[in-house]
Amino acid sequence: MTILAIAGSVRTKSFNQMLLRAAIELAPAGTTVEAASIKGIPLYDGDDEAASGVPAVVQALKDRIASASGLLLVTPEYNNSIPGVFKNAIDWTSRPGSDIARVYGGRPVGVIGATPGQGGTSLAQAAWLQVLRTLGTLPYFGARVLVSGAGKVFDDNGQLIDSVVRGQLEKYMAGFAQFVARHAR
Ligand code: FNR
Repeated sequence: MTILAIAGSVRTKSFNQMLLRAAIELAPAGTTVEAASIKGIPLYDGDDEAASGVPAVVQALKDRIASASGLLLVTPEYNNSIPGVFKNAIDWTSRPGSDIARVYGGRPVGVIGATPGQGGTSLAQAAWLQVLRTLGTLPYFGARVLVSGAGKVFDDNGQLIDSVVRGQLEKYMAGFAQFVARHAR
């Protein structure tokens, strides 16, 4: 079973990419977590879409989501909400609207996130729920991973060194994988 995971930050030392890599490591046996990147996705432009359709990089991401059993969003929080770069990428994958059911309909989706500050991205995670409902997904509510103080949770090499967070993530991945297996389309 494959879960596709997307981190909503493209910078090299992204804490959310570190969290995604830890999620890959801690996935339970029998579950493969594959990483997909939003790097290179252009700003949504309705004129470009009308002229040329969905860009190849977006089409490829849509097809990867559609062929995965589940989707894991690893979200930063900007100004108490979803970062524009991440929302833009997911907005592109919702085009054309006639393809939303194939890509997202009934698909199990988990949301986790990390911040160097406090609050653990809880407001960004909550904001994603509106989007996930609109896309007709099946959000996972069985556990939460809200990483605060990420500068101390990961070391300079991006390794997850906090044993409490490690335990939370391991439990989350086990529960989410079970949920995905139960509801995979
Ligand atoms: C932030 N950051 C931030 N953090 C947070 O916990 N709540 C917030 O509302 C915000 N707001 C915010 C706005 C903008 C424009 C930026 C650039 C940053 C800090 C943010 O969590 C931090 O930059 C993380 O390191 C971003 O995630 P990655 O890139 O490390 O994955």
